[in-house]
Amino acid sequence: MKQRLHLKAPGNWINDPNGFIYYKGKYHMFYQHFPYEPRWGTMHWGHAISDDMVNWEHLGIALYPTKKFDQNGCFSGSAISAQDKLYVYYTGIRYLETDPEDIHVSVNEAYEPNQVLITSEDGFSFDNAKGKQVVIPTIEDPAIGHRTHARDPKVWKGKEGYYIILGTSGDDGKGKVLIYKSDNLTDWTYVSSASKTEGYGWMWECPDYFETEGGGALIISAMGLEVEGRKGENQTLCMGASYDEESCELKLADSYQFIDYGMELYAPQSTLDKDGNRTLFAWLRMPHAVAGEWNGMFCLPRLVEVKDGHIYFRVHPNVKNIFTKEINTPAEAKEGYCVKTSLEEGESVNIGGYKVWMEEGRVCTDRTGVFPDLKDKFMVCRTPKLEEGNSLEIYVDDNLIEIYANDGEYVLSNCVYGLSKEVTSTATAGVKLFTLA
Ligand code: FRU
Repeated sequence: MKQRLHLKAPGNWINDPNGFIYYKGKYHMFYQHFPYEPRWGTMHWGHAISDDMVNWEHLGIALYPTKKFDQNGCFSGSAISAQDKLYVYYTGIRYLETDPEDIHVSVNEAYEPNQVLITSEDGFSFDNAKGKQVVIPTIEDPAIGHRTHARDPKVWKGKEGYYIILGTSGDDGKGKVLIYKSDNLTDWTYVSSASKTEGYGWMWECPDYFETEGGGALIISAMGLEVEGRKGENQTLCMGASYDEESCELKLADSYQFIDYGMELYAPQSTLDKDGNRTLFAWLRMPHAVAGEWNGMFCLPRLVEVKDGHIYFRVHPNVKNIFTKEINTPAEAKEGYCVKTSLEEGESVNIGGYKVWMEEGRVCTDRTGVFPDLKDKFMVCRTPKLEEGNSLEIYVDDNLIEIYANDGEYVLSNCVYGLSKEVTSTATAGVKLFTLA
């Protein structure tokens, strides 16, 4: 099955991007996948490949439960290439209690995670029967991490060896990351941890640490945040960070940004693209299956840049550079379109019923008209105050709108349903529409 632009569930359900890597001449994207229904359940790894991160081909299921330690799911993880092979790490899940009426979910949060390695010679074939081994067993020491909540290994290569960062919850009830080190990618030793004080949630999922020219960053999907007075939110944060390989200390900045101010993006994962640029994908949480058939899509690839302590998420040039055909109305768009405009204070643009306007220097959105019956979700969203101008690039697909302000100073994306094919605006600068060449 082929897809263009947004990578979506090929049917049924997807959540997090996993094992994202450019390997032997192809981009490989794996994803959390429940193949039987458009809802979350026993996790498999679906697999898609691409030459450009724009045109995707789904290849079916790469990883699936086969062992006692992953009998209830292959949770999120990551990949690295070494000695010509692909090393894939993920969290194997075994439920300790099950609901006799639904074996696909755990009961009372009683389950056991193990961190598992599986390798592949080509990135396409995985020996699910004989190729899996536990490399980081269930944590038994609460001073290190949580017995149940320890998952989502992200691997990277440092100067001194290989590292895995793992998400967990500390014995103080705060989100925490653990760092493990290895020389051979198989034997892993716990070396250090990092966490914050109040206000960063009780559990950190899907951590991702990386360095860029302008500095390092840590991304975490924090559970149990308070956002605009709403408690218990699970949202993805990023903050400046630096890891010292000598002392093994991971230092974290004093404040955080959201990666996306639409409050739907979750569980991102980054890798280097073929030109060495830090590139990220993430899952957009959709409240409804589309046509009762599929649920879950990924954002467009975003370049991550750190500059003067700010973290930018820019549309990847592979996407930006193909929206070159100017059109007069969305009805002429092939697959998605891009609205380019700049909004002065009080000016607005209406994209098929989705409202965008500038207020107090912030980009604000309201999707009430294109998001029926879901008033418990964020209906009105806003970025922080823009510092770098007021230009907007808005990528519009049938079920997802991504607004990049000032080339990624801030991003705001929302899932939508039933957009009309009309764009109107009060912008003095006007609006221009572009579709794929
Ligand atoms: C994040 C997450 C991960 C976990 C996976 C299970 O969305 O909860 O922590 O590995 O999804 O599907």
